[in-house]
Amino acid sequence: MNSLSGKTIVVAGATGGIGEGITKLLLQHGAKVVALSRSEEKFESLRVYLSGVDTGNLITMQADLDQDQEGSYEVYQRLKERFGGFDGAVVTIGTWGNANRRLIDVSDELWDQTIKDNLTSHFRTLRTLVPLLKTDGALIHLSGLSADGPYPGAGVIGLTNAAKKSLVLTMAAEHESTGPRIYELIIGPIRTRERVARGVARSNWYNPEDLGVFISELIQGDTEAAQKPLHYMIQPGG
Ligand SMILES: NC(=O)c1ccc[n+]([C@@H]2O[C@H](COP(=O)([O-])OP(=O)(O)OC[C@H]3O[C@@H](n4cnc5c(N)ncnc54)[C@H](OP(=O)(O)O)[C@@H]3O)[C@@H](O)[C@H]2O)c1
Repeated sequence: MNSLSGKTIVVAGATGGIGEGITKLLLQHGAKVVALSRSEEKFESLRVYLSGVDTGNLITMQADLDQDQEGSYEVYQRLKERFGGFDGAVVTIGTWGNANRRLIDVSDELWDQTIKDNLTSHFRTLRTLVPLLKTDGALIHLSGLSADGPYPGAGVIGLTNAAKKSLVLTMAAEHESTGPRIYELIIGPIRTRERVARGVARSNWYNPEDLGVFISELIQGDTEAAQKPLHYMIQPGG
């Protein structure tokens, strides 16, 4: 379980339903994990979730990556001064918000907010984190399955997923010859704690920790999968 020993990995969205499970798995595999959140209070719930796990290698840091270039540079400098280069980065951010409606019913305000929360914030996060990675390091970005097809009833989310896929694969190609390695991981619905608590999680869905296992393999970089920038974790049957 110590396959990531000696590696330092930053997780953007570490307090989220998926991010907390990935954080747990990375810690269990021996990594030092730098968990980021915009809100200090959310770290409390992360620590409760992680009780029973050795958190000696967990560092929490309040940081907002969804900022203009000046604000992003301040976060970049804080991370650089404290940690130098990272071996890995995971980006599991975003929010559904009020986007549950047909495209024809999307207001200008909802459009702007959804693009900001689910596309601009991801671009800004990658723009900050990629230069912090060692050249042999790896960044894994998560997008939803609607990246690949129509998404009736929540199309504004679907189109941000499609754009994020393009964003990440382009960044991957732009760094192919120099490193770091950049991966897009497209996922179906996940058995987050919140979904389990609401009784809407199916037993065949992947757990956040399952994503963590695959992500730790990509960061280590010695599997066949690590040679390709695009990956899917969709539960059997859909
Ligand atoms: N859960 C699923 O089944 C599923 C399936 C497919 C795709 N996804 C996608 O995977 C991502 C994570 O999902 P989740 O279920 O873990 O969501 P979640 O529980 O709502 O967590 C989302 C995280 O994103 C961060 N975040 C939200 N907006 C942000 C912004 N503008 N800038 C920076 N950070 C921001 C939040 O961090 P703070 O602590 O800073 O608030 C939070 O920790 C989302 O993009 C979601 O759409 C999820």
